[in-house]
Amino acid sequence: HKELKQFPSDFLWGSASAAYQVEGAWDEDGKGVSVWDNYVRIPGKTFKDTNGDVAVDHYHRYKEDVKLMAEQGLKAYRFSVAWTRIFPNGRGEVNQKGLQFYVDLVDELIAHNIEPVLTLYHWDIPQALQDEYGGWESRKIIADFNNYAKTLFETFRGKVKYWVSLNEQNIFTAHGWLMGIHPPDKKEPKLFYEVNHIANLVNATVINTFHEMKMDGKIGPSFAYSPQYALDSNPKNILAAENAEDALSHFWMDVYLYGEYPIAIFNRLKEQGIAPTFEEGDAELLKSAKPDFLGINYYQSNTVAWNPLENGVGMGEMNTTGKKGTSGESGEPGLYKRVVNPHVERTNWDWEIDPTGIRVAMRRITSRYRVPILITENGLGEYDKVEDGKIHDDYRIDYLSKHVSAIREAISDGATVLGYCTWSYTDLLSWLNGYQKRYGFVYVDQDETMQGSLKRIPKDSYYWYKDVIEKNGSEN
Ligand code: BG6
Repeated sequence: HKELKQFPSDFLWGSASAAYQVEGAWDEDGKGVSVWDNYVRIPGKTFKDTNGDVAVDHYHRYKEDVKLMAEQGLKAYRFSVAWTRIFPNGRGEVNQKGLQFYVDLVDELIAHNIEPVLTLYHWDIPQALQDEYGGWESRKIIADFNNYAKTLFETFRGKVKYWVSLNEQNIFTAHGWLMGIHPPDKKEPKLFYEVNHIANLVNATVINTFHEMKMDGKIGPSFAYSPQYALDSNPKNILAAENAEDALSHFWMDVYLYGEYPIAIFNRLKEQGIAPTFEEGDAELLKSAKPDFLGINYYQSNTVAWNPLENGVGMGEMNTTGKKGTSGESGEPGLYKRVVNPHVERTNWDWEIDPTGIRVAMRRITSRYRVPILITENGLGEYDKVEDGKIHDDYRIDYLSKHVSAIREAISDGATVLGYCTWSYTDLLSWLNGYQKRYGFVYVDQDETMQGSLKRIPKDSYYWYKDVIEKNGSEN
């Protein structure tokens, strides 16, 4: 572009978190037990068996955190609600004390002119529902989730304008039912597809409820999108990239936006006998729900090559990050295998750094779905060091700054982008990696011993973002 467009004047410069990763207070004020509260207690599941009992104590320190946001000029804060604080056992009587925490948080944000972006579900389903009917494995969750969502819609009507239905359905289902590294710790492909279908029905149901209730605001799911690249122009590798995009991206996004699964992949699942079961009314329900935006969590792109059906590379083993690094080969025989992209750099956690990828992502979404985009996560996980009471995270500034530029280019290309929430606001508990992998603008003195002082220290990136917000991204 010779002339780049400006960011819209109401662009939501934000940042994000998730309940389990920041709140702590795991059993306070009547909160019920979630599957994560239990999972982390199984030895060997997380780095040094770290749990989120205290996390970064946001539950008790939210005022201090919001104050820092306000001083930075943050326009939006994305957080998730812990279902177990509202309904300790998934349904029944509302736990007023638990609900009050979020009422207070939302009021505090609004008082500081920060737009709340509320995620209904960021992976912490009540253990009671897991025990009763297998949680996401049963259609009974549709009514319980809808009831939970309705309670929040009623509570925050007129106050919360941006709602995320499900965070990264593709990740929590893959980790929970394919790879066995998140609760409920299974490796059952057929169940994985059933669970996804049920989650799609849940997503459609709550979006419809939101619209039927004539809520003043917007709702959409957040998808973890890694655009798929072909290793090179070998037609077989091009086909592999098409396969990967269908199997790893369209398989969710098409359902959200079109109410249909991509044909080639669905047919393949049918041949394999693992396609999800369609009951009467499912197709209509999926088609009837229209998200107002698509939330995108973008960290990296993914490069693939042809993978033969006979003796092809399979799922492979997870590395310690819980997500595959780029160097370990993995794939789906007959469709694609993941390979190293020789053109991009990698983080110390072996994630690819590819700012152009976020532009590609937004271009593809805009072309295929014509839907507004809210970037609900983007960020760099690194080992941060405190030196003389400061954190010089120039590597994070570099990463974020390049992504902000790429977003501006995508806007200039014609994408409608509502806002940008970095991951994360404060440092927080990485599900499987303890506190060694940090993402925040605000450093928190906490580690795997859980004896940290919990002191907050703004990093260099905090001040960098403050400046970006002040200038509405014009000089980034
Ligand atoms: C996203 C999740 O998948 O990535 C976050 O929505 C998570 O909850 C983030 O923390 C970073 O992942 P990780 O594994 O580096 O902590």
